[in-house]
Amino acid sequence: MPRALIVHYSRTGHTARLAHVLAAEIRRRGYEVETEAVRVERDWNKWLLPLPLLPLLPLLPVYLMSARFRRVWHRIYFQPEQAIRPLVLPDVSAYDLVLLGTPKWLYLAFPVARWLKTVRGLTGKRVAPFATFCGPPLKVFELEMLFDPLESRLRTLGATVVDRMAVSSNSHPYFFFGEMERLFRFISRKAFGRPLVDFTLDGEVGQAEVQRFCDAVCSK
Ligand SMILES: Cc1cc2nc3c(=O)[nH]c(=O)nc-3n(C[C@H](O)[C@H](O)[C@H](O)COP(=O)(O)O)c2cc1C
Repeated sequence: MPRALIVHYSRTGHTARLAHVLAAEIRRRGYEVETEAVRVERDWNKWLLPLPLLPLLPLLPVYLMSARFRRVWHRIYFQPEQAIRPLVLPDVSAYDLVLLGTPKWLYLAFPVARWLKTVRGLTGKRVAPFATFCGPPLKVFELEMLFDPLESRLRTLGATVVDRMAVSSNSHPYFFFGEMERLFRFISRKAFGRPLVDFTLDGEVGQAEVQRFCDAVCSK
């Protein structure tokens, strides 16, 4: 029986829920599945988390407009890391497939960046990242901004990226009255002509994406 490992970090539970659903789907496709939930040594105050991410904000219009700028930015931006507890599975070389889940914190979540520095055995592995973020699957602001830096790190470690997937959590910790959720709901209607809930795990598009991703990673 082929073996899959599903690793994820989740601060508020949405990526954990997605990891759980993926584990059931991958098992249903004939894999033996093990899981690792990455835990931080110490939770950072939520208002401190965005501080190291602020340098992109004044450059955001250029980032969104220029693919060339994005390529350069992804090479030079500062990726924060957060200390994680010792891993239960620090060596992934025994698995045929590794799924790596992260919430989007503008780029990859800080504990996941540390996991990539800590884990052993990714060389030659088939790896598929998955994620949750608040917004709909905007090609540049959500998907490219998260997956390009994440996948380039995976490739540097010798992994083969076989697919990627993301769903909306329809949830954002900033600011006070659900302002970010409201903004992303508006953008979803404008950009996709669909409500944001369609892109969540409970929505039509989100559920189809889970099936597509699991079929793809299990057949490759
Ligand atoms: C520091 C930080 C940055 C975030 N950046 C984004 C973002 O760029 N786009 C987005 O849609 N959501 C963003 N979010 C929201 C999370 O991605 C979203 O709530 C995610 O589903 C949380 O996953 P979790 O519950 O597994 O921790 C951010 C959240 C934090 C804490």
